[in-house]
Amino acid sequence: MNAQALLTQLYDTPETDILEQITALKAELGDQVLILGHHYQREEVFAFADVTGDSLKLSQQAAETDAPNIIFCGVHFMAETADILTADHQTVLLPDLAAGCSMADMADDEQVVRCWNELSQLINPDECVTPVTYINSTAALKSFCGEHGGIVCTSGNAQKTLEWSWSNREKILFFPDQHLGENTAVAMGVPDSDMIVWDPFQPMGGNSPEAIEKAKLILWKGFCSVHQLFKPEHAETMRRNHKGIEILAHPECSREVCETADFIGSTEMIIKHVSEAESGQSFAIATELNLVNRLRIEFPDKPIWFLSPMVCMCSTMFRTDPQHLCAALTSIRDGQISNQIKVPHEQKRWAKLALERMLNIA
Ligand code: 13P
Ligand code: SF4
Repeated sequence: MNAQALLTQLYDTPETDILEQITALKAELGDQVLILGHHYQREEVFAFADVTGDSLKLSQQAAETDAPNIIFCGVHFMAETADILTADHQTVLLPDLAAGCSMADMADDEQVVRCWNELSQLINPDECVTPVTYINSTAALKSFCGEHGGIVCTSGNAQKTLEWSWSNREKILFFPDQHLGENTAVAMGVPDSDMIVWDPFQPMGGNSPEAIEKAKLILWKGFCSVHQLFKPEHAETMRRNHKGIEILAHPECSREVCETADFIGSTEMIIKHVSEAESGQSFAIATELNLVNRLRIEFPDKPIWFLSPMVCMCSTMFRTDPQHLCAALTSIRDGQISNQIKVPHEQKRWAKLALERMLNIA
């Protein structure tokens, strides 16, 4: 049966049967398969992950595993990263190939090469600019960073990677998330006068030659469509209504939201912060809904609110459902791998270098 026909059949099967099938397939495949699950995955899928984590932890895990098959319950750039970091005989599957990331789509290699060429009209970027890509980016951009003395970062190690980058070259070009770059720099005490924003749809990113020459940090104008929904007024309402509440924010939120927060960190760091807090401490959290709901269940003694009154959910993370996970496991069991993610060899070499630079300092 081909992959599409199998999926159609699975959507006609009761979900309880599918969950049983997944359990049985996992038991049958044993150590032939490792399931990695990002914190934003829905509960029915997350429950089957062998390892759960943020982007940093999952990339470290991918670099260490020798499992012949890895199913990445996350989004496309995560599966690409796993493929880059694993050996040629290992296979990485993304259960639903349409599970992308809108932020990663906000910078493509053509735009970044154009930016680099425009910078070359004023300065020698290969001598004075470290390109830093957030892990939420295509393999082509990771490869660009590897080739040009740059590095990958995650929301869990952004400060360390900025420190590394500035110790090598005087300027940083940070893409695709403006907010992670800006929030990290603000936390490091970098003044506003040292930062500019690069709009890829404007000549010279919309900046004067003087501003580019002066800037220490060039921030790509990209954002996460989920985290941009949190607003500072949501934090004000929470503080008004809940005395003693702590506001926790993911650094993909805007600077205005992060400035209202008591704690800023990656998903893994937010979980650690909540788990280490005293019983009775209340929180309002600005990150994806599935993670916040899970924390509520896990820590019933710590009242937890979602910071926004709106539903801020990552629709592409949500694409991975039990049907797609079951189909991925079935394809491994039947030796007819579907939805394999394979990064081209030449890209892999440079992208791996940029990722290894990150893992070495992480
Ligand atoms: P972390 O996994 O680094 O917390 O980032 C969240 C995210 O948006 C993943 O796409
Ligand atoms: Fe991309 Fe935002 Fe979804 Fe993360 S939460 S995968 S950055 S769209």
